[in-house]
Amino acid sequence: MKEKIAVIVMAAAFLTLLSQGLALAEDGGEAAYRFDPNIQSSRALEYKNLWAGYNLFKSNCKSCHFRGNDKGAQFLDTDSRTMRGWNALFYKKSVRCAKDGSWAKLSSEELLVINDYLYSKAYDTWDPNTAKSCG
Ligand code: HEC
Repeated sequence: MKEKIAVIVMAAAFLTLLSQGLALAEDGGEAAYRFDPNIQSSRALEYKNLWAGYNLFKSNCKSCHFRGNDKGAQFLDTDSRTMRGWNALFYKKSVRCAKDGSWAKLSSEELLVINDYLYSKAYDTWDPNTAKSCG
């Protein structure tokens, strides 16, 4: 009987540790939410949105903002702005291309996910204590 109780106690302790470990792993130490000033609410930075944002940024913004382009657009990458800087860009929309209609084919939902992606990899998300995002 004593042995059985010991096994149950051990199992319970093990499960408790395991669930704490998983909770930490999910957190990952990265920003998990972004407050969006356009919609005045928080957006979860979900993997599917970040992936969609990456693709939209590549196919739209990067079609002009690549290194050595002949459209007069500066080279842009995720670390060209801070987290606040990206939010401000998509809120104010005061840059030349946003005004001249180059953003017009993107829906407001698409702009939100591009903003999510750029925010998640912004200049000030770099963490010197990890090997991630070096380069
Ligand atoms: C048709 C080409 C084109 C497209 C597409 C385009 N841009 Fe631009 N963008 C420009 C040009 C030209 C300028 C003005 C020159 C400059 O400052 O780079 C500009 C300016 C900017 C600037 C200011 C540059 C700086 O660093 O101060 C930002 C930021 C920017 N664009 C972001 C974006 C984002 C984000 C997207 C996608 C949603 C986008 N652009 C799509 C051509 C484009």
